[in-house]
Amino acid sequence: MASFKTNLPRHVAVIMDGNGRWATSRGLSRSEGHRAGADSIDKLMDASLSLGLENVSLYAFSTENWKRPITEIKSIFELLVEYIDSRLQTIHEKGIRIHHSGSRKRLTSKVLAKIDHAVEQTKRNRKLNVNFCLNYGSQEEVLQAAQKVFADRWKKKVSPEKPISVKELEKYLYTHPLPSVDLLIRTAGERRLSNFLLWQSAYAELFFTETLWPEFNRQSLEEALDWFKKRTRKFGGLENG
Ligand code: FPP
Repeated sequence: MASFKTNLPRHVAVIMDGNGRWATSRGLSRSEGHRAGADSIDKLMDASLSLGLENVSLYAFSTENWKRPITEIKSIFELLVEYIDSRLQTIHEKGIRIHHSGSRKRLTSKVLAKIDHAVEQTKRNRKLNVNFCLNYGSQEEVLQAAQKVFADRWKKKVSPEKPISVKELEKYLYTHPLPSVDLLIRTAGERRLSNFLLWQSAYAELFFTETLWPEFNRQSLEEALDWFKKRTRKFGGLENG
């Protein structure tokens, strides 16, 4: 176990895919699949705490997920509300800080109030940052950040000719101040990024597994971390400097 403490990714991002397939293969409804997926989040948080991870981002609902049937959308948001109501105290006691990345547009006032409460209650916790990416889309995130940079410059009378720096834009990403992603995990066999943390994952190592999200457990996370440990990261440079 000690080996997992060395060369740990600073930020792990997870595309939690396969809830639907897990449910239908068992004759269950898709919403039961999401419920099992929520239980997997509990397991991931506990494993992350005990393995010493610092930042974990979870793709819970994308800006494209609004295309799903309204019944499924409703069941995901009801589950989220129930999840916060039933788990927040335990999450808080474990020293986990909740973040939200995503647009506030289209989220109901009830959902926003629950998220804001979770973020506020846990804001002094330091053991683990868990970033719920909810109503999240990476392209929209970068566009709104660029708009804020220009609004800021306009107010401060900075010339629009002055080149924008990476740091200047990153200040306005939803994920600020979380570090860039080192390891991105996608479950359920698909090999695409689906508009998730594209900017932040510029140099991320990508780990794809066939495991469906409801079956992802501590051992699955350890496998991903073990694989990550063996990667040679060059960030565009050469292996030996
Ligand atoms: C992808 O599986 C999963 C989602 C779009 C939603 C992720 C939601 C959860 C893990 C549970 C939500 C819980 C909280 C606390 C927010 P899919 O439905 O696309 O699976 P499929 O590709 O097999 O159909």
